[in-house]
Order: sequence, then structure tokens, then C-alpha cells
Amino acid sequence: MYTLNIPYSVGISGVGSCVPEKSLTNDDLSKIVDTSDEWIRTRTGIRERRIADENMATSDLCTEAVKKAIKDANVSPKDVDLIVVATVTPDMAFPSTACIVQKNIGADNASAFDISVGCSGFLYGLAVGANFIAAGAYDTVVVVGAEILSRILDWEDRNTCVLFGDGAGACVLQRCEENKGILSYELGADGSNGHFLTQPAGGSRMPASLETVNKRLHYVHMDGREVFKFAVRSMEDASLKALEKANLDLEDVDYLIPHQANIRIIKSASKRLKIEENKVYVNLDKYGNVSSASIPIALDEALHKGLIKKDDIVLLVAFGAGLTWASVVLKWIK
Ligand code: ACO
Repeated sequence: MYTLNIPYSVGISGVGSCVPEKSLTNDDLSKIVDTSDEWIRTRTGIRERRIADENMATSDLCTEAVKKAIKDANVSPKDVDLIVVATVTPDMAFPSTACIVQKNIGADNASAFDISVGCSGFLYGLAVGANFIAAGAYDTVVVVGAEILSRILDWEDRNTCVLFGDGAGACVLQRCEENKGILSYELGADGSNGHFLTQPAGGSRMPASLETVNKRLHYVHMDGREVFKFAVRSMEDASLKALEKANLDLEDVDYLIPHQANIRIIKSASKRLKIEENKVYVNLDKYGNVSSASIPIALDEALHKGLIKKDDIVLLVAFGAGLTWASVVLKWIK
């Protein structure tokens, strides 16, 4: 069992996010590839997405999101013990984006590393951070989900380039009152189906060469239909398992924040879970799929709108490359 059956309860004490200013609408996209606003809206729910400026890297978005999150938690950079960045679009292979963020915010006492879990990355990061605190190793952990997916999209492939966007979201994890904060989580992976969603070249299997560039192998390659089926199934399973571990029922959920990939996936999953639409947060119309950043950006927005209150039960659930899935059940602490 992965329940946090441990000395300390751990909660989210601060949240922040950062999205680039530049918006790319569906109509803009229809000038780049053979698509239409109508197709994208009805098949995905997306209306626009944010695109980072050329001079911007993932760590820049992370840094802004983290500054807001630590301010929200009333924590100084020197108090941070660990920075975990979940991303599939790091600034570079190494050093890690987390180390660059550590330098940028002046978190001199923090250790730092990246994790690569696709769209499930932020929730995996919450589980990693919570365990460090629960074990008594650290007091304050910053978890970030951040992506500049526009850099790895094939802007000639209408099957993928219309789906994704750029952004970052961060949170601060700290000890909290007993039986509050993170009540449970469920993490999973199915590497045997990883080939449905890949960036084939640029690693040790297929290093960058003229041939890999000419074959467009540094971009996102995806079998959308297979990922769709997996998404609906895994979001339902992961949600039910985490709720069971927390000894809660679906009726106890005050708010569901699902990964923001496709409105049809969100509707199918919430219908299977019988969670009413007014309890499900959706913002993919504005940002598209921002992979690991989707959930923390949505969480930040929902908090700013006053939709989540102290003691609310919040269910976060995601699926992504790997293939992977993850869910976290929280009793909100602020
Ligand atoms: N504009 C117009 N037509 C399009 C476009 C487009 N942008 N994209 C595809 N089409 C066409 C296809 O070519 C196809 O045409 P055909 O029937 O003549 O071959 C037709 O539309 C239908 O294609 P489908 O793939 O069946 O469309 P579907 O309804 O399945 O929607 C989509 C495709 C949106 C990709 C959907 O399958 C999906 O959302 N899948 C999940 C993807 C996802 O969540 N990925 C994120 C993974 S998370 C991570 O870690 C990054």
C-alpha cells in the first residue's frame, strides 16, 4: 500500500503558476496546418494555447511559478530543502532544470532533480516530495510541473500540433495537521505501451544526426486513439484506487482536477466516475494540454477563483507518456 502511513501529514501550503503571454488560437493554427477551429473545438475542447517566446526556456517559466508559490506559502528560498521539476522539455539534458531553478531563486540549501513522467509528472512529484517530508528528511519541498512543448511539436503534423501548449505550475509541500493534506496517492506505469507516445530521437538510442532531423524524429509522435482509450480507463482506475486508500467515496469529492488533455477524455472519465460537471475543473480551452504543468496551473486558477476551500476533498488525476498514470487525494489545508 502506498498510503502515507507515516509520522507526519503533508499538505500543499502554497501554489503559483506562469504561462507565456503569447496566445495561438485555432484560427491561427488553421493558417499553419490543414485544420479548423470547428474540428479542434469539437474533437478536443481547445480554443487557444500559450506559446513561449523564442528566448524563453522551461526554467524561466518554472522560476516565475516557484517565486509565486513560495510567496503564497510565506517561505524564503533559503528554507527550501528540495526542488523537484517534472518535465519532458527540460532546458537541456543536463544540468537538470531543477538545478537551474535552484540557482535562479537562490535556494542555496536545496537539493534538486528532474523527473520525466510525461503528463503524470506533477502528481509523481507530489508523491516524491511528500515522502521526503513524511520520512522526516525534509521540511519544505517545491514541486513544479513545467513544459515548453511548442519546441518539440511537429508544426506540419495536424494530429499533434493542435493539442499542446506551454506553461508552468508549482506548489510548496510542508508538514500539516494530522489527517489533512495528502491523504493518499496512486502511481502506475505500463512501459509495454510506451511506444504510443514518444519523442524518438535525441537520446542514447537515437542520437541527433542529420538523418533524425530530416525524418522529424525529434518531435512528439503519438497514436491519439490508443492514448485516448488508455486515458479514460486509467483515470477512472487511478481515481478509485486513491479514494479507496483514503477511505473515501466518490460522493466525498468536492473538486476533481483532471489532467487537461481533451474535453472528451475528461467528460468520459467523470461520467464513468459519476462526478457532476460542476465539480470538475476545466481550463484546457485556454491552454491546451500543457503536460505536467496542466494540473498545477488548473489548481492555481481554481484556488484564485475561490472554488477550493479549507477541508475540501480534492482529487487530482493524470495520465501520460510512459505510459503512466497517477492520482492524489487531498484534504485542503488553507
Ligand atoms: N484537423 C483536422 N482534421 C484532423 C486533425 C486536425 N487537427 N487531426 C486529425 N484529423 C483528422 C484525421 O486525419 C482523421 O482523418 P481521416 O478519418 O480522414 O483519417 C480524422 O480527423 C479523425 O482522426 P482521429 O484520430 O480518429 O480523431 P479523434 O476523434 O480520435 O481525435 C485526438 C484525435 C484529438 C488526438 C484524440 O484521439 C485524443 O485526444 N487522443 C488523446 C491524446 C492525448 O491525450 N495525448 C496526450 C497524452 S499526455 C502526454 O504525456 C503528453
